[in-house]
Amino acid sequence: MGNFSERVALVTGASRGIGLAIAKKLASEGAALAIVSTKQDGADAAAAQLASEGGAAKGYACDVSDTAAAAALVESVLADFGRLDILVNDAGITRDGLLIRMDEEAWDRVLAVNLKGVFNMTKAAMRPMMKARYGRIVNISSVVALSGNAGQANYAAAKAGIIGFSKSIAREVGSRNITVNVVAPGYVETDMTKVLSDQQRDAFLANLPIQRAGQPEDIAAAVAFLAGPEASYITGQVLCVDGGFH
Ligand SMILES: NC(=O)c1ccc[n+]([C@@H]2O[C@H](COP(=O)([O-])OP(=O)(O)OC[C@H]3O[C@@H](n4cnc5c(N)ncnc54)[C@H](OP(=O)(O)O)[C@@H]3O)[C@@H](O)[C@H]2O)c1
Repeated sequence: MGNFSERVALVTGASRGIGLAIAKKLASEGAALAIVSTKQDGADAAAAQLASEGGAAKGYACDVSDTAAAAALVESVLADFGRLDILVNDAGITRDGLLIRMDEEAWDRVLAVNLKGVFNMTKAAMRPMMKARYGRIVNISSVVALSGNAGQANYAAAKAGIIGFSKSIAREVGSRNITVNVVAPGYVETDMTKVLSDQQRDAFLANLPIQRAGQPEDIAAAVAFLAGPEASYITGQVLCVDGGFH
């Protein structure tokens, strides 16, 4: 039993990093989990991990930037679990570079996965949520959406787009008891930040009020709050989980 017993949650980008921590947190509080990543084996391994900890989970392969695949994914989850209560759009990629050296492909791909992916998944999940008159959607943005970051114009634009998108959808579906909120992480230790140099890491941590890097579990706790029963009067908000960076 827990906050999410009887609930079904779909988490994209849940094979590793922040998404996996979110899936584990929701499962630990009773949710059944649809685990999504680009590869079936990655999703299956994460689902097996959750199952070994006593949770109900199933893995799905889907490229969230593919509109038809996103719609088919939600249909499969509904067929397998019978309902969809919580959607966490966590899937994301980076293709960093200064604008002067950023090619069109790096722009298009980052926008396609990080922003169009959120559109695809949210649209697909909306029909069953509206029918059920219940839904919790949490979209993972980034503090760079608010602060900007040299070398991440594509990523920051996509992550800022998520905020405008979420605030708009929150207004569209609030009357159906569906909330849409955003979590904006700061620097979190995952595969995504492993590629950064010590210098880049230290620059971020310098002057940070809370003097440590974020962990995936820090983000998962905020997502679980926004997806949970105590946040039913919160929608269209951005919660920075960034050690006080922004
Ligand atoms: N780490 C940070 O410091 C930080 C800070 C702010 C915001 N964020 C955001 O938090 C989210 C998670 O980041 P992370 O650090 O945990 O990343 P990560 O460790 O690199 O994991 C990325 C996840 O997204 C999945 N994914 C990538 N492209 C996808 C696609 N086209 N369709 C479906 N799934 C896809 C990956 O699946 P595969 O395993 O199949 O590749 C993986 O599960 C991202 O949206 C990221 O932008 C991260």
